[in-house]
Amino acid sequence: MERECMESKCMEKITVELGDRSYPIYTATDFSGLGSALGETGPGSRVMIVTDSNVSRLYLEACMNALASAGADVCSHVFEAGEKSKHLDTVKDIYRELAAQHFDRNSAIAALGGGVTGDIAGFAAATYMRGISYIQIPTTLLAQADSSIGGKTGVDFEGVKNMVGAFYQPRFVYININTLRTLPLRELRSGLAEVIKHGLIMDAGLYDYIRLNMRKIFEFDESTLLYIAKANCNIKRSVVEQDEKEGGLRAILNLGHTIGHAVESVSGFELLHGECVSIGTAGVFRLAWKLGSVSRDIMEEVEQTLKAAGLPVRAPGMDPRRIYAEMLHDKKAKAGKLNFVLPERIGKVTVCATDDQKLLMDVLEELTA
Ligand SMILES: NC(=O)c1ccc[n+]([C@@H]2O[C@H](COP(=O)([O-])OP(=O)(O)OC[C@H]3O[C@@H](n4cnc5c(N)ncnc54)[C@H](O)[C@@H]3O)[C@@H](O)[C@H]2O)c1
Ligand SMILES: [Zn+2]
Repeated sequence: MERECMESKCMEKITVELGDRSYPIYTATDFSGLGSALGETGPGSRVMIVTDSNVSRLYLEACMNALASAGADVCSHVFEAGEKSKHLDTVKDIYRELAAQHFDRNSAIAALGGGVTGDIAGFAAATYMRGISYIQIPTTLLAQADSSIGGKTGVDFEGVKNMVGAFYQPRFVYININTLRTLPLRELRSGLAEVIKHGLIMDAGLYDYIRLNMRKIFEFDESTLLYIAKANCNIKRSVVEQDEKEGGLRAILNLGHTIGHAVESVSGFELLHGECVSIGTAGVFRLAWKLGSVSRDIMEEVEQTLKAAGLPVRAPGMDPRRIYAEMLHDKKAKAGKLNFVLPERIGKVTVCATDDQKLLMDVLEELTA
């Protein structure tokens, strides 16, 4: 990791090593280093910032000014906030705007916002003129921890999430941790579920750090948030470097997601993704305890940590049979066997497949009691 002093405060740089697709992730406490990041990586002198209707009110002006200060010719395109905008028509609007502004392959898109913005803008960049550069400026914890790194882009299609998309890496990622201050609390908690997940799969130190510094996270203590952002980016970076296109290892990022996705869908998307991941994580620790791979103490401590983050660990009243049916329906289930990322201890997981319906129903019944 390099430490460099740019325009104002120190910001740090972590590089995702992917050969000629390598790129830096900058972590910072404001937007003042954005111009120098652009100058250093050189994705183009014209930039269109794509952002949503909430984030534009908060951060568009600061980002436009920071990029313009590096000599870039900057314009913007705003779409209506929310997952409901994550479809091809929004991408078409971006193409139209890019064409109207005569954007060519020497120009770039900047995705300013959460995972919805990053996925849409990244997909537009991957496909406009067979690919133009893009940069990620994530403003939700979910996007800073997860979606902005790794190059998965795409949109929903006819009700199916992320059905149309491409693997396409950004030119750089710029994380200003202070944008989390304006995030609705429920969104912040939901993003924290993915960060806790990263600790649980690969980094017991990060998990302990979160557990012991929960109060400071919710007080937006800069050094705590910077530590977490960097540790987190290093985990996602190392997984993506080893498995860019999800051939194998990247699957471990799905801890808590087999049950989580099913709960999300049975809830009719009333629960946020991270809330469902939290319930799913509690579920796989329960499963691992029943299989004898983790102790009861560990299982209870993980539940306690998720609860301390303000996350749910149960889905009371939800029909366990519907969750089970939904899990079998998932595209990752093969021949009735369900894949689980199963904890072996804090910081170490293994991938396994099971068709033990009785055991799974026991877990789901306890989760929904
Ligand atoms: N590409 C990937 O690898 C990947 C990984 C995980 C999730 N995703 C995708 O990410 C999406 C979810 O992302 P999300 O949770 O960031 O949702 P989101 O982008 O919709 O953001 C959540 C809400 O917070 C608002 N917001 C964003 N930043 C803000 C800020 N700093 N202050 C105040 N409000 C702010 C947004 O306007 C929105 O209303 C899903 O579509 C999911 O499929 C992609
Ligand atoms: Zn997730």
